[in-house]
Amino acid sequence: MGAVQVIESGRHPAVLDVPAGVLSIPTAESGEIKLSLVIPTFNESKNLEQLVARLSRVLDQCLPGRYELIVVDDDSPDGTCAVALRLADRYPALRVMRRRGEKGLSTAVIRGWQAARGEILAVIDADLQHPPEVVERLWAQMANGADLATGSRHAEGGGVSEWSALRRALSRGAQFLGLCVLPTVVGRVSDPMSGYFMVRRSAIADTELSPLGYKILIEVIGRGRIARIAEVPYVFVERTAGESKVTSKLYVEYLRHLLRLRLALLPARFPKFAVVGLSGVAVDMFLLWLLKGGLGWPLTLSKVVATEMAIANNFLWNELWTFGDLAERQGYGFARVRRFARFNVFCAAGLALSLALLTIQVRFFGMNPYLANAVAIAVTTGWNFWMNKTFSWSAPHPLKAPIPAHCRRDAEVVADDRAEEGDSKAYDRSFPAAPEIRETFQYFEEQTYFGPQREAHIAAANALVPGGFTTFADWARSHMNPIADASVGD
Ligand code: GDD
Ligand code: MN
Repeated sequence: MGAVQVIESGRHPAVLDVPAGVLSIPTAESGEIKLSLVIPTFNESKNLEQLVARLSRVLDQCLPGRYELIVVDDDSPDGTCAVALRLADRYPALRVMRRRGEKGLSTAVIRGWQAARGEILAVIDADLQHPPEVVERLWAQMANGADLATGSRHAEGGGVSEWSALRRALSRGAQFLGLCVLPTVVGRVSDPMSGYFMVRRSAIADTELSPLGYKILIEVIGRGRIARIAEVPYVFVERTAGESKVTSKLYVEYLRHLLRLRLALLPARFPKFAVVGLSGVAVDMFLLWLLKGGLGWPLTLSKVVATEMAIANNFLWNELWTFGDLAERQGYGFARVRRFARFNVFCAAGLALSLALLTIQVRFFGMNPYLANAVAIAVTTGWNFWMNKTFSWSAPHPLKAPIPAHCRRDAEVVADDRAEEGDSKAYDRSFPAAPEIRETFQYFEEQTYFGPQREAHIAAANALVPGGFTTFADWARSHMNPIADASVGD
């Protein structure tokens, strides 16, 4: 404790205050510093010197005087912080933050970024498992216009050195699970578990981050405004000193993080769909109880009938309420028949999924059939929403010629703001012209966080911009009322 006080009262010039409050990164950057690389540490005293030496060697070449290294230490008992401060005497780019109350890798990284001055924010492990030399290629990608550049073990040329089959399987299993829960986030990179990446400050500034556990990259991709991602392959090196802090608790935190992010990124329509789904659950549960329990029908048959009735119920309410505006725009008559047909196809596939899940749970795990049914319905509801929103109630717009990246980003910013605003009525009022463009915009809004062809939709929106405007954003702004305009930003 004595040593700690000396550091604090003596106040080494490299010491940074620990930011408090919400985990949101300020917009301001210094202009002088280009890259801020955060090094989270817990008991890494034996690795830090080599890491800082190797990083400095690389960065002094490509960014002399224009980078900073920020060690964020969680009060490591092995004296990591003291080591860092000694190193700061020799390496002027090094700054040190020592946290006490708060703990954990993800928040350490964000606290570091909050205190950072750079235009590009980055993170690297302290234990030398991330080869420091790779920062040069990551930086090159950022300088080239990427919004995010991440090291990847799974890209061509990357890898892991001596992992056991079990560890590989766990890592891939976690990735697969992430893909199921958050396909449009986790699916954007080959190595979503990477803790070695760079991101443009403007892509995540003023956005409240809420990570859990280790997987901050997923958080950044999920909540950030990130159009262009670049990957740089690297080989994950074995640790030679210190210990990994990964425990089974982190797997649970990963799961919680995925679910939290999933809920946070749901489109504005989802609550309606969920309520409709709930009415379907009631129909399904009631009929299962009636047919299986009351009439003694076999489980499978009971389930098929119950779910079919729930499908009809759900279509009705989604058609009238959840997607009522889209249905109106697509028209009724044959279009409605087609929607119903598609809804049935996706729900039939959902039924198969549901049945498989129910069977597996009941037969192999001996679960209570009603509880198992509830789980099956939950998973199937997610599937139904995604498929039907994408394919039943909206029709993809044709993709015209490719458009320049800056136009794409512009349009995306507008659409993101629109999606965030969630008030499509206000926007309708602010888009009086060109119904086909307004529709595209509406459609685009729907797809922004969820759609499988995000890039294509952005391009499609831009391709529809009328003459006299270069980008969709320009056009949109010129048609917005002042209130709506305020939400678009610059
Ligand atoms: N400040 C702080 N607080 N740092 C921490 C904490 C913490 O609670 N826990 C771990 N760290 C630091 C470690 O000191 C190390 O520099 C880095 O975070 C990674 O921790 P390890 O315990 O070495 O993690 P790993 O090697 O199993 O995981 C790495 O690989 C994963 C991919 O499988 C990390 O890079 C992860 O970010 C990555 O997802
Ligand atoms: Mn490690």
